[in-house]
Amino acid sequence: MKPNSALITGHKGFIGSRLDAALDHKACGWDTNVSMPFESQYWSGVEVVFHLGAKVGMGESQYRISDYCQANVMGTAYLLEELARHKTVKHMVLASSVSAMFGGSPYAATKACQEELCEAWCKLHGVTLSVLRLFNVYGPGQSLTNPYTGVAAIFAQRLLSHAPPVVFEDGLQTRDFVHVNDVVRAMVMAADARFDGIAEIGTGRPTPIIDVATALRDELGGPLPLITGDARKGDFRHAVADTTAAKMGFGWEPTIDFKVGVKDLAKSLRGQVAHADVDGAIEELRMAGGFA
Ligand code: UD1
Repeated sequence: MKPNSALITGHKGFIGSRLDAALDHKACGWDTNVSMPFESQYWSGVEVVFHLGAKVGMGESQYRISDYCQANVMGTAYLLEELARHKTVKHMVLASSVSAMFGGSPYAATKACQEELCEAWCKLHGVTLSVLRLFNVYGPGQSLTNPYTGVAAIFAQRLLSHAPPVVFEDGLQTRDFVHVNDVVRAMVMAADARFDGIAEIGTGRPTPIIDVATALRDELGGPLPLITGDARKGDFRHAVADTTAAKMGFGWEPTIDFKVGVKDLAKSLRGQVAHADVDGAIEELRMAGGFA
């Protein structure tokens, strides 16, 4: 990428901050969660936009629907209006989600909507678009204060507070955990190749949720996981990526196995103090009727 030719939304987030550090040259970015008109000083010479700014969380989105629509749908709308004003952009990378395929929650609906908005706009303006459907991203830098973040960080938050990880369903539901470094590499490679299409970003291997809890407990110590049998409404049972499009389209393949990556995550967290109110978040979801 040419100097100062890329712009990132959500550059302070978990994935965005990694991407920010990985790009040698970039224009400044900001967080679409702010949902306000974007300042034009950033736009000079921008050719590639990485759109990562979003609110994530299947559970919380069930009862904070307007917040999710504001951040994800309106945030994208504001961004596209700004792109239309600055005619230098040639390529866009959208950090979408596997949930855009499966549905099941207002969050999923906002990700599907982001895809459709970006597809329509890019087609109208002759801009190429890489839609990257991310699976469960984990790794160093995940929040220890946000109780709505991904399950690996939630389990780590609990263990660091000497509380057991709370495992929903029977723990045998699976997800495809992909390391943040592999995700950042996929974004840069898709942009460099001007990949125009949809690709799933995961490892292609399923990991049962109970294994995530056990692996983190082995690394961090703390109480054994507690399997509650509770089922979050709208959750899908299994999800695993088909990485063919990423390989064929821009030569990307995952390199970090979960068994290795989870040690990396634990290493970055050891000795830290978690401030997230995970119990409060679970209770909030229960009160909102979010469990089946
Ligand atoms: C996550 C991402 C979403 C992404 C999707 C792709 C977050 C907050 N969400 O959603 O952005 O689109 O992956 O698959 O990062 N679970 C427990 N105990 C808990 C919390 C969760 O057992 O305390 C279970 C859930 O029931 C689910 C699994 O862990 O079966 C994963 O949950 P979660 O980390 O919230 O991720 P997804 O819903 O898959």
